[in-house]
Amino acid sequence: MKHYLQFKDLSAPEYAYLFARAALIKHKFKTYEKHHTLLDRTLAMIFEKASTRTRVSFEAGMYQLGGSVVHLTTGDSQLGRAEPIEDSARVISRMTDIVMIRTFEQTKIERFAAHSRVPVINGLTNEFHPCQVLADIFTYIEHRGSIVGKTVAWVGDGNNMANTWLQAADLLGFTVHVSTPRGYEVDQAIAGVRSADSYRVFTDPLQACRGADLVTTDVWTSMGFEAENATRLQAFTSWRVSAAMMAAGAPGALFMHCLPAHRGEEVDAEVIDGPHSVVWDEAENRMHVQKALMEYLLRGKLKE
Ligand code: CP
Ligand code: NVA
Repeated sequence: MKHYLQFKDLSAPEYAYLFARAALIKHKFKTYEKHHTLLDRTLAMIFEKASTRTRVSFEAGMYQLGGSVVHLTTGDSQLGRAEPIEDSARVISRMTDIVMIRTFEQTKIERFAAHSRVPVINGLTNEFHPCQVLADIFTYIEHRGSIVGKTVAWVGDGNNMANTWLQAADLLGFTVHVSTPRGYEVDQAIAGVRSADSYRVFTDPLQACRGADLVTTDVWTSMGFEAENATRLQAFTSWRVSAAMMAAGAPGALFMHCLPAHRGEEVDAEVIDGPHSVVWDEAENRMHVQKALMEYLLRGKLKE
């Protein structure tokens, strides 16, 4: 049994399969072709933080595969009333076939997975957001072909998305240019990457964007860090992706943002709403790649 708790839980050949499979699944969805590979299977979704895209993409995706979903939050389940996570895992995994969790510390999802009878998927933790980077790389491939050897500029917080990009670069063979304000750097140990070979650190965000094939950013204050919002607003003012940064990128550079976005904070409206931006494809692709992921975790490689 496989879990998907961080990006490095799958190998490069497994990603190659998933990207091809997601393209097939997307094509079938667009052409109204039935694709019921998880008929009668149930996905449990546990949300300890808010969500729009993750909820809709997993929920719609599971129904499209012929299955159904159970939606739980901290507020409406015993999770919020101190039932041990291990006990919740034992019970939920006896009644469902696969579980998606959005929570705080990575250790919480690891404890759940250790006591689960079924595959567990990380739908975002403080440390990682693997489903998002899975969708982002699929989106890159759709628009520009292979990401191998390319350069991705990360502008902003050294957060869950930044950590996940570092793991993806290490595994799939591309480079990340990381620029964060002082005090918000990525930590190689937390990111869980073997070496610093696949990323370079820049103090100036414009320099990080030079020659980049993809420029990407995220909110200045992630969920769970709201108490730091005022300090962060001040620290991050120079880490707003601008038209000048996009112009410094390689010809045809793409802009991505996992969303939700704050125009005028981490990105200028003319960038996210402009010609480089592929953010809506990126959001839609969450559903297609996650359908491929759920299928793979439950049934392995399929030919049908
Ligand atoms: N990008 C993303 O995970 O969005 P939600 O928080 O809306 O799920
Ligand atoms: N880094 C953000 C991503 C939201 C999808 C957060 O954790 O809130």
